[in-house]
Amino acid sequence: MPARRTSIHGEWSSKLAFILAATGSAVGLGNIWRFPYVAGESGGGAFVLVYLACVLTIGLPVMIAEILIGRRGRQSPINTMRTLAVEEGHSPAWQHVGLLGMAAGFIILSFYSVIAGWTLAYMVRTAAGVLQGVTAEGARSIFADLVGDPEKLLAWHTIFMVMTIIVVSRGVQSGLEQATKFLMPALFVLLVAMVGYAMNTGQFQHALRYLFMPDFGKITTDVVLNAMGQAFFSLSLGMGAIMIYGSYLSHNASIVRTAVVIVSMDTLVALLAGLAIFPLVFQYQLEPTAGAGLIFQTLPIAFGQMPGGIWVGTAFFVLLLFAAWTSAISLLEPAVTWLVENHGMNRVKATAYTGIAAWGLGILSILSLNAWSDVKVFGKGFLDLFDYLSSNVMLPIGGFLICTFAAWLMSRESTRSELGLPDGFGYRLWRFLVQFVSPVAIVLVFLNKIGLFGGS
Ligand code: TRP
Repeated sequence: MPARRTSIHGEWSSKLAFILAATGSAVGLGNIWRFPYVAGESGGGAFVLVYLACVLTIGLPVMIAEILIGRRGRQSPINTMRTLAVEEGHSPAWQHVGLLGMAAGFIILSFYSVIAGWTLAYMVRTAAGVLQGVTAEGARSIFADLVGDPEKLLAWHTIFMVMTIIVVSRGVQSGLEQATKFLMPALFVLLVAMVGYAMNTGQFQHALRYLFMPDFGKITTDVVLNAMGQAFFSLSLGMGAIMIYGSYLSHNASIVRTAVVIVSMDTLVALLAGLAIFPLVFQYQLEPTAGAGLIFQTLPIAFGQMPGGIWVGTAFFVLLLFAAWTSAISLLEPAVTWLVENHGMNRVKATAYTGIAAWGLGILSILSLNAWSDVKVFGKGFLDLFDYLSSNVMLPIGGFLICTFAAWLMSRESTRSELGLPDGFGYRLWRFLVQFVSPVAIVLVFLNKIGLFGGS
């Protein structure tokens, strides 16, 4: 076995720090903004069921594979993939998996920052009391005004990107770790309180039925593809974010156990978000299919009516902002480490370059909401296109290559010793999942989408 490597970029101060940071990466706009609206567009319960199945059969095994590869390689995803491939006697071309991931992270960050900008805008509006007593109609038009104004969107997008650049440029311990420690638990508590509020709206039963009683007739190819894409997006998988975080993990931490914790937390937060939002959607006769604006058009109504809503609402958007922040930093980190390793750049400069480039690309997403709303590529505006392309195409391809690599190209000894497992049931189950179940599931979903089985 090769000597254990150390990362030139540092290490987490503890196992808990890793769990918090990786959970911070996973829990973000994907859970609270994206999950409810994609679930609403994809028919509720049918989507939720397929989503949970994807998390278990693809998400968890791939997350274990990603952490394992990262910790063994201890470099940027590109260099890690190359080093491990060569070490295991395979082609260095595997480094392109890291490259694909970097590209995906870059595209995701570009629009993620725009949506995080909406969160900033709503934080300020809620605090200022603008949303007090707002009606469903009012909430809708406030949202429409925001997305219709490119200058405002650009200002918020810029502020968020600068925030992200600042944290990432400070590096692993001082930057990434500190951001997560208190904010994740706080978000969790507030979300539980909001589910409590939603329970009293009178439509909680309706929401429960909507989310958890699947209409199997609604499970179409697109629903399955959306659920798989959402699983990758929400768990931060398929692009090297969890891989680079794994590269800062110490050797004595159990990879499987940490992965189970991260996946459970992420799933729980998404379900709580659904339970907080859908009762309000039904109560105020909004459309579950309202799309990307769903949470921004529903939650403000509740904040506008509940006692102390200014405080609760402001706290909610502040915490959502932090959740988005701790996710955004993980989208930048793989590219930054690569620039530092291969181009001798210092961290600050590398972060600034990549952040500014993603900021520039984000402008396309902003314009697609207003001035260029009639510009369509493959039938979609830029924001939708980037979202679809990254989540539903690039991440699953990256995830497929990552689990294939861990399962078929790395030796049993390498993976087993890195996981620190005996050759028993647990290890065999994981290996079976990454060898057969996850890659085959990903390929089947794609083939179905392309219409090979007569799917839509
Ligand atoms: N998972 C994050 C969220 O739910 C977003 C995110 C962070 C991400 N890093 C990622 C998505 C890497 C895909 C890949 O908001």
